[in-house]
Amino acid sequence: MNYDQAFDREDTRAIREMLSGSGYSDKAIEYYLNRPNMGSLPDANQVTELTGRCGDTMKVYLKLEHGRIEDAKFQVLGCPGAVASAMAAVDIIKGKTIEEARTIKDRDIFRVLGELPDQKQHCIRLAVKTLLKALDGHVGSNDLDPEGG
Ligand code: FES
Repeated sequence: MNYDQAFDREDTRAIREMLSGSGYSDKAIEYYLNRPNMGSLPDANQVTELTGRCGDTMKVYLKLEHGRIEDAKFQVLGCPGAVASAMAAVDIIKGKTIEEARTIKDRDIFRVLGELPDQKQHCIRLAVKTLLKALDGHVGSNDLDPEGG
């Protein structure tokens, strides 16, 4: 193990402890650290961005085919709650029809994450609203969410 690997491991442990102590579940921490659905989709046919009142921004890329979500990714400029919520949202909606995905609720994401600090519940809201906005087909760029994230 070289110095960088040792440092990374120590760093990750410290982040894990910090998040766990703040009220994030292990699942939410995994999403935050591993970011399985983070990035862009070059063949997306729906790209929508939303900024919460907190200043965090999410951009969702959807690849829609025959009324179904074939693939999805999020880019997130935001807190651990925002990253975890966006990653969970993708896992929930991937493979679903647009109509099915439209029924996504905050509690669906919360159920996947298990636990999030109380003051981070609005991060789930921002992920849901970004997704619903995308599904409604409102292509946005840097729109400010009037109700906050
Ligand atoms: Fe803004 Fe988490 S603090 S989405």
